[in-house]
Order: sequence, then structure tokens, then C-alpha cells
Amino acid sequence: MQNFKNIVNFIQELYQTQEFIPLHEPKFIGNEKKYLNDCIDSTFVSSVGVYVDKFEKEFASYVGSKYAVATVNGTSALHVSLIVADVQANDEVITQALSFVATCNAISYCGAKPVFVDVDLDTMGMSARALEDFLVKNCEIMNKKCINKRTKNTIKACVPMHTFGHPCKIDEIATICKKWYIVLVEDSAESLGSFYKKKHTGTFGKMGTFSFNGNKIITSGGGGAIVTDDRDLAKRLKHLTTTAKVPHNWEYVHDEIAYNYRMPNLNAALLVAQMESLEQFLTIKREIFQKYRQFFKEIKNIELIGEPQNAKSNYWLQAILFEDCKAKEEFLDFSNANGVMTRPIWKLLSELSMFRACQNDGLKNSKFLAQRVVNIPSGVIV
Ligand SMILES: Cc1ncc(COP(=O)(O)O)c(C=O)c1O
Repeated sequence: MQNFKNIVNFIQELYQTQEFIPLHEPKFIGNEKKYLNDCIDSTFVSSVGVYVDKFEKEFASYVGSKYAVATVNGTSALHVSLIVADVQANDEVITQALSFVATCNAISYCGAKPVFVDVDLDTMGMSARALEDFLVKNCEIMNKKCINKRTKNTIKACVPMHTFGHPCKIDEIATICKKWYIVLVEDSAESLGSFYKKKHTGTFGKMGTFSFNGNKIITSGGGGAIVTDDRDLAKRLKHLTTTAKVPHNWEYVHDEIAYNYRMPNLNAALLVAQMESLEQFLTIKREIFQKYRQFFKEIKNIELIGEPQNAKSNYWLQAILFEDCKAKEEFLDFSNANGVMTRPIWKLLSELSMFRACQNDGLKNSKFLAQRVVNIPSGVIV
């Protein structure tokens, strides 16, 4: 308990307040109000406007992708990416059980089923070895398709996730996916500003998706984006996210059933301003990690999780690992009762009622982490 008191005191000192400390608060310290006012004055607040175009160009350039398509949120970005990856009813999509529910919801919107493989302990993201082991044991290639021998279904796509901003070994995953004719869609919702071997997360596969929800490193209130280097895919993504409207000045012609998933210009205005603060946020988050690191060096039985090898993490959410599961529960009670918000990592998706019947590989590391990892306050201090 003394340890817990010290941790809570340290966090209160770090954030210089005795009042409630949230896990991750958004910060609007730049041109947010200016661009929002400009957007309101223009009257183009909704589905068309210069801020959407400006954001898409700047975002693509930042992550080093040829194209970006802005969407209403990260879940819709994932959904439409999977559609474009040709994921259909009864197909299967390999993902990790240690993730936010949106990953599996998007797979389910397509009528497909998730298959769960384990994560690595050091990255908390999909394990390349677990992926390969699962494919070798359970799958075969027929007519350039990856067939799950147990279900006879096609494994169309693979969706790894960069947990809390720490990149997984995505280059190895990309190589395995290619070999097995599986489309790689990176769920990079949490990893804007994170690089693996100097390449931005989200740019290793066919498509990468991002979220700009209020809790993310930058926010548009709600919002998302898809990046790709494929011009035809980008065109198709834009078409599907804008109700498949055939361009015309006044006629309403739509050439297929599609989605109203485009990010409103108002949200994009906010996001363009947030992008201008991104580098500053990244620097501050790294400093916060260093301060936590100094502090946790002295704390027994709790480990602060740092960025994996070969990776530069955005340190979106700081995470600590408890040796003892009971101590973890006690810490959650103590910190939240004392005004410091902390949260356990997600319950494994394979344990939620909707996904309990989905195939998995035993998920040894996922189970270990799910019982021991806690997020601590990580918001930018300015
Ligand atoms: C891993 C992951 N995937 C997908 C999403 C979905 O993003 P959104 O909330 O913008 O729909 C989130 C975040 O919310 C997330 O953390």
C-alpha cells in the first residue's frame, strides 16, 4: 500500500494537481478555435470543404503514404478497409485478442469471423511467430487463397494492432501475409507518430487505419483515416465513404450501396490544427515516459513498459506491468479512489460473448498481459 501511495503522489506531482487526473485529456493549444471559426464562417461544415482536403494531404505526407482518406471514426476506417480488402460473409480475418473491441466489430460488420493469434510480450501487439505458427498448423494455400483447413473458410485479411502506440514487428507480419495471400490492414488507431525501423506504422500493408477519438494523441472529436499507396484503392475508399455518389453538380446518382463515412469539414478543421501540435505532443510524451521511468526504477514488482526494439513509440498510453495480479486489482482500487484514473488493459476479445466461439491459438502471452497490465495517466502536460 505504501508503494501505491508513492505512485499516486508521484502522478499528482507530475500533473501538478490534487484534483482528478484523467487517463488522457485532449489539449487544444494552437489554431483550433481559429480554424473552427473559419470553417463555421465558410458555412462548409459538413461533407465538403477545404479542411478535409488539406488534412488528407498533410496526413498522407506526415505518415509517408501516397493517399489518405478521412473518415468519421477509426471503426468506420477499419470497416471500409476490410470491404475493399474483399472481406465477405463467412471469410475469416486474423487479429489479436488483446485489442479494443472496434477491431473485431469491424470484422463482424463484414459478416466475417475473427481468428485470434497471440501477441508478443515486448510489444503487446500481434506476434509474427504466432501468426506463422498458426498458418503452418491450420492453413493451406489453394488457388492463391489461404484456406483454414478446420473451417474450410478463406482467411482474407490480417489486422494487427500497435498497442498503446508501441509498434509490433510489422515488417515480419507483412512478409508472412504476402507469402500466404492475406491482405494486411494495420489497425494503427493508437499509433500516430510511431515508427518501426524508421517507417511509420500503418504503411506496411495494403492499408492502415487511424483514430482521432477524443482520447487519442490528436483528436477531431471523432474521426479516422485510412492510408494507402494504391491509387485505385484510395479512389474506391473515397467512393465508398461518400455514399458512392457519382460526381455531378446537381444529380443524385449513386452507383452502389455505400456508406456515409466521410469526416465532416468541421472535424477536419480541428484536426488540421491538432496536426500542427503533433510534434510537440510527441516530445512531451517521451519526457513523461522518462520521468515515469526514473520513478518506477525504485518500485519493486512493477515494471514500466517501454518502447520495443527497432521502434519509436508515440507513448500514447503509458502502461505498467504488475508481477502479482492481486496487487494490480488493489492498485486499481486505490488509485481510482484517490482521484488518479487508471485502467486495466482490455478484457481479451476472445472472452467476450460475441467472440468466444472464434478460433484461437491458446493466447498464452495475451492472457498473461490481460491479467497484469494497467494504464496510468498519460496526457500531454502543457
Ligand atoms: C485499437 C483500436 N482500434 C480501433 C479504434 C476505433 O476508433 P474509433 O473510436 O475512432 O472508432 C480504437 C479507438 O477507439 C482503438 O483503440
